[in-house]
Amino acid sequence: MSEERAKAADLKLAVVIMAAGKGTRLKSRRPKVLHEIGGKPLLSHVIAAASRIVAPADIFAVVGHQAATVRSAVADTGVHFVEQTEQRGTGHAIQCARPSIAGYENILVLSGDVPLIRPETLQQLWQFHQAQQAAMTILTAAPEDPTGYGRVLRKAPGSPEVEAIIEQKALTPDQQSLREINSGIYAFKTAPLLAHLDRLTANNAHGELYLTDMAGLLGAAGERVVAIEAAETTEVLGANTIAELVALDATLRAATANRLMASGVTIFRPDTCVIDADVEIAPDTVIEPFVQLLGRTRIGSDCRIRSYSVIENCTLGDRILLRQSCILAESTVADGARIGPFAHLRPGSDIGEDAHVGNFVETKKARLGKGAKANHLTYLGDAEVGEGTNIGAGVITCNYDGVHKHKTQIGKGVFVGSDSTLVAPVSIEDGAYIGAGSCITKDVPSGALAVGRARQVTMEGWVAARRARQQPPR
Ligand code: UD1
Ligand code: CA
Repeated sequence: MSEERAKAADLKLAVVIMAAGKGTRLKSRRPKVLHEIGGKPLLSHVIAAASRIVAPADIFAVVGHQAATVRSAVADTGVHFVEQTEQRGTGHAIQCARPSIAGYENILVLSGDVPLIRPETLQQLWQFHQAQQAAMTILTAAPEDPTGYGRVLRKAPGSPEVEAIIEQKALTPDQQSLREINSGIYAFKTAPLLAHLDRLTANNAHGELYLTDMAGLLGAAGERVVAIEAAETTEVLGANTIAELVALDATLRAATANRLMASGVTIFRPDTCVIDADVEIAPDTVIEPFVQLLGRTRIGSDCRIRSYSVIENCTLGDRILLRQSCILAESTVADGARIGPFAHLRPGSDIGEDAHVGNFVETKKARLGKGAKANHLTYLGDAEVGEGTNIGAGVITCNYDGVHKHKTQIGKGVFVGSDSTLVAPVSIEDGAYIGAGSCITKDVPSGALAVGRARQVTMEGWVAARRARQQPPR
């Protein structure tokens, strides 16, 4: 599709993300670009940044190692894929993309393992590349410790022009002091790139085709090769080891917490909280220490999320009090509800406005209407609980018959006495009462009292009589 478009129109820019590598230094079975920071794969961060650059650009991801897994992890982003079946280096990755990029005037090359890159910086790189009319523009940085990165050798100090990129292992003793690193992010004019791309050789420490060698090759061919330093060093750091990955994760989470605090959210001890990159929180909500907010969680305003709670992919309204140590997943909680402590909302729970879910209450695919209460020691699974209904302590919906799951329907204003079991499928209509300790197996009509328990037997004087019977013989 995009190849046709490329042929037909004056397409200026394509983005190529190199993501085919194995990530040997991570010592992991998982492909490097699917390792996560801020709760999202490295590659997803890079795709998100690439999608937000202003110039319209098609995005190609070069995949190879465990290609099918990588493809399916980012399939929903709409990127196009290029296969690099054998990973013979970053230069080879671009060679594999040749048919895809040939119709574009320029390409931006990104690395799938450099996840903190910001769209603004890509935009600057793209603008600088155009202004300089360069064949190759390298995004660089000067971190405290440049060890491991390729170094950028400028033609003269302060000159935009670059002589070559030298990989760490190829540095001569007097080049060891070079501090400007290659970020692995570049802009190329496609025509000169493709004209010289096949001149790369594997004559180096790894026996690979290095894209970095294009700097020297293009320069020697009389093409303009320049470099621009990124505004922030942290955004061009790569994740090659678990330690580097964890450091980038910490940087990203700190940035996320700072962004939320700048928008009016109070996060006490943000360093103890784990907040994923896509979490959204409205102003005047307070997050206490040691809280985890994961995935696509959204929290409204004026909420208080107390310590040790873990919330994943949930939507919470306004003015919610979530007491300590609650676990919520794939659920919604409406305005003014009170949850916990020690509540467990499993996927598909939908807690209504001003409803209460108390300690040691577990819900799953359960809807609680406005003002409904289940305050103590309860399991509500595959259940519907109407407005204002009170679920007593220890009530259990028996939703599973060993083979199938069944629904429990509880109407509005119902009172379910403590320690009752509701054997689904069963329906309790509006305003009904269930006596404590009942085992309810049949539907209860509106306004009725249902009691399903053994009758109490009281035997007056039984204790004294027993004692008399049990008198030991003298
Ligand atoms: C590369 C650069 C180095 C730069 C650093 C910045 C080269 C030779 N070196 O080194 O100058 O400082 O990035 O982070 O390019 N990949 C493929 N196919 C391959 C090999 C790699 O798609 O055959 C992908 C990887 O999945 C990765 C990216 O390219 O996302 C970079 O590869 P990596 O091996 O991490 O390069 P570095 O050694 O970090
Ligand atoms: Ca790397």
